[in-house]
Amino acid sequence: MIAIYPGSFDPITLGHLDLIERGSRLFDQVIVAVLSNPSKQPLFTVEQRLEQIRYSTQHLTNVEADSFQGLTVEYAKQRQAKVLLRGLRVLSDFEMELQMAHTNQTLWDGIETVFLATTKEYSFLSSSIVKEIARFGGKISHLVPENVARDIYLYYS
Ligand code: PNS
Repeated sequence: MIAIYPGSFDPITLGHLDLIERGSRLFDQVIVAVLSNPSKQPLFTVEQRLEQIRYSTQHLTNVEADSFQGLTVEYAKQRQAKVLLRGLRVLSDFEMELQMAHTNQTLWDGIETVFLATTKEYSFLSSSIVKEIARFGGKISHLVPENVARDIYLYYS
């Protein structure tokens, strides 16, 4: 079974990577799908984010990184995937995630969203937090893959 793990991944964090690794043990294939969202001002381009994901998931043979535009369910149909994978960190994630899961199901009833509970050491972690710490010169090497930490230091130096 193919699962799509959609998100902004600006940038990928160790929390995302943990979810990808666990997803790759549950599904035959996991497609990490980077949303190319013209209405957001990202830190990294879609190409940079794909490169960061590919580098940090190279040990996982059934994981692929790709980008998409528009609706996630349309992309899922195109990739013949019937599962969307998402992580749940804390209670406050639940409302938005449930809304997305329901909305996606109204758009295509062939889709199921599977939630994995984030490993507790990453339950506070988000790409925005990483960017905020990095902007003020804080240490982020324990929060993101090594290659991403390098990219962020380069960006802010
Ligand atoms: O990592 P993020 O930013 O929390 O991911 C959000 C994402 C990309 C999964 C969500 O915004 C999304 O699916 N956007 C594509 C547009 C879409 O399909 N919208 C309908 C579902 S709410």
